[in-house]
Amino acid sequence: MGARVLKIAVFASGRGSNYEAIQKQIDTGQINGQTVCVISDRAKPTVFEKAAARNIPTHSINRKQFKTGDDYVEHLLKILAGYETDLIVLAGYLKLIPAPVVKAYYHRMINIHPALLPNFGGKGYYGMNVHRAVVEAGVNATGITIHFVDEHYDNGNVILQKEVKVEPDDTPEMVSEKVLKLEHKYYPEVVKLLCDNKIKIKNNKVVVENE
Ligand code: GRF
Repeated sequence: MGARVLKIAVFASGRGSNYEAIQKQIDTGQINGQTVCVISDRAKPTVFEKAAARNIPTHSINRKQFKTGDDYVEHLLKILAGYETDLIVLAGYLKLIPAPVVKAYYHRMINIHPALLPNFGGKGYYGMNVHRAVVEAGVNATGITIHFVDEHYDNGNVILQKEVKVEPDDTPEMVSEKVLKLEHKYYPEVVKLLCDNKIKIKNNKVVVENE
């Protein structure tokens, strides 16, 4: 009997190139998972078109649509539970996930950050801001960090980091391009490992089992 297929909810705010990279491997069966829905804080992000093209349900959920924070959290949790979500994948999601949702999916929610955390992370460090800061700082390397999500921005147990060189003449756009290549290669890989139950938490540390 094959292993159970993990049900994945993706949260994204923008173009969704990471979502696309992951979804492609789900479509071909390389990742033993199923995207149950794509959730965004925006009304019509580009990522919704990518999901809709595959008949994957999309939900636009924003704190502003609700009277209270509790109503917002309750709605989010209801949607996620309705799909029997096993894993939440944040792929360019710009809002902080409310603490009760983090708690409900503790060590079952991952994020990708386009720099080597703890450097160039935290509030305000998103998109091109990150790569501009990297170039301005004159560092000779940057990269990606894939980590479990806790209640702070860009915090939580690190699953994987990969480095790429920054050349003296690199522009933020050039850095972004290099980093994005790493993202598209390694984010699907980590999702695959999670779906294969190869990433464990032992003594609050991430252990990746490679055969
Ligand atoms: C990526 O750079 C990711 O690291 C960050 O947001 C960006 C999203 O890009 N969290 P995309 O929407 O996946 O193309």
